[in-house]
Amino acid sequence: MKDEQLLDIDKSHVWHPYSAMGLDHPVYPVASADGVRLKLTDGRELIDGMSSWWCAIHGYNHAEMNRALQAQIQKMSHVMFGGLTHQPAVELAEKLVALTPDKLQSVFFSDSGSVSVEVAMKMSIQYWHAIGHTNKKNFLTIRNGYHGDTFGAMSVCDPVTGMHSLFQNVLTQQYFVDAPECLFGQPCTDEDIAEFEQTLRSEKKSIAAVIMEPIVQGAGGMRFYSAEYLKRVRELCDHYHVLLILDEIATGFGRTGKLFACEYADISPDIMCVGKALTGGYMSLAATITTKDVSETISHGEPGIFMHGPTFMANPLACTAALASLNILLASPWQSEITRIEKQLAAGLGPCQALNAIEDVRVLGAIGVVELSNPVDMATVQPQFVEAGVWVRPFGKLVYLMPPFIIQDEDLEKLTTAVVDVLSN
Ligand SMILES: Cc1ncc(COP(=O)(O)O)c(C=O)c1O
Repeated sequence: MKDEQLLDIDKSHVWHPYSAMGLDHPVYPVASADGVRLKLTDGRELIDGMSSWWCAIHGYNHAEMNRALQAQIQKMSHVMFGGLTHQPAVELAEKLVALTPDKLQSVFFSDSGSVSVEVAMKMSIQYWHAIGHTNKKNFLTIRNGYHGDTFGAMSVCDPVTGMHSLFQNVLTQQYFVDAPECLFGQPCTDEDIAEFEQTLRSEKKSIAAVIMEPIVQGAGGMRFYSAEYLKRVRELCDHYHVLLILDEIATGFGRTGKLFACEYADISPDIMCVGKALTGGYMSLAATITTKDVSETISHGEPGIFMHGPTFMANPLACTAALASLNILLASPWQSEITRIEKQLAAGLGPCQALNAIEDVRVLGAIGVVELSNPVDMATVQPQFVEAGVWVRPFGKLVYLMPPFIIQDEDLEKLTTAVVDVLSN
């Protein structure tokens, strides 16, 4: 199909994320992708600064990933998971249990991050229901969070930046406290955690769980907060008998410099959600991982089963992709690679500090963020990045880079230089 025709049909019939149908926002047809490069159908190559929204940590078209998937497709692409099981799922569950904090022992697979959050929320409600605390049905979270676009997940996204105000009267009302003022690397004072503690203390009878992204708040503002705050949250959840759900969907698998961001606070949640980079960006797969206490309590309580079971649960191809991706990650010197990327992001984005209308430049692990005073004009900025040969997709006031871990210095320099140049204009 010619580009012109493809774009015509796309414009008439295809809806893109967070977009209006049929309007003239440019979309760029991609013919293939390899390493850190997206190859457009017109022959241009773009260096990927986004890892396809946190996922493609090993880059694209990875020979080992391809081999593993080709071998699995010869055996089976999919079988239902009700009453059946298979090696890719079992091996992956075993691996996730080994890699995540010790307390997390039971793995529930699902097809996307948002669904894994729904599952975590349902687990929390069912847990308390099973032991007779039927009023514990609500959730406490911090502002500026993002947990997905399904209804339960939306209800715990930031009410303002979460773009969900339209659904305000439809969503379950949850408890929100301000996002931590204490930033990454800073201590957490009693005052910093006071609102959180007070809300937990007064509403504990109706709160099933606290849900938050550990250390890095992603799509809700790309903020990095104090590990001590997270540690205090764990202590307070224990003290007031509330479960803790950590959403590691964006942060998991090395992105922040730790395999899981909760390791910065040296804590374990009661329930952890993972997705995105789980399969190295090859397929959609997520998992909700919980403790024996939670899984056994639910299984022994009324109605004796956990009420969830997606059709594509533990899809064998997706589990195979995840196993291959984890093997590649763990066999690589990923920590030193992240440190290298972190240093170069800090040096390369540093000059943005001196530009007009820049609020902040911050870097953690393989995440570099430039926060502007005003929202970016995407219609102007997006083509400029493409002209510069890079794929950078800002949102709101945030221009950010989170490249594949395999990116080499020269390509990373092109990315940071493009950000500085485009923002200078
Ligand atoms: C922290 C976090 N939680 C949940 C989600 C939702 O995941 P998905 O888009 O796979 O449903 C995202 C996606 O950006 C996320 O960043």
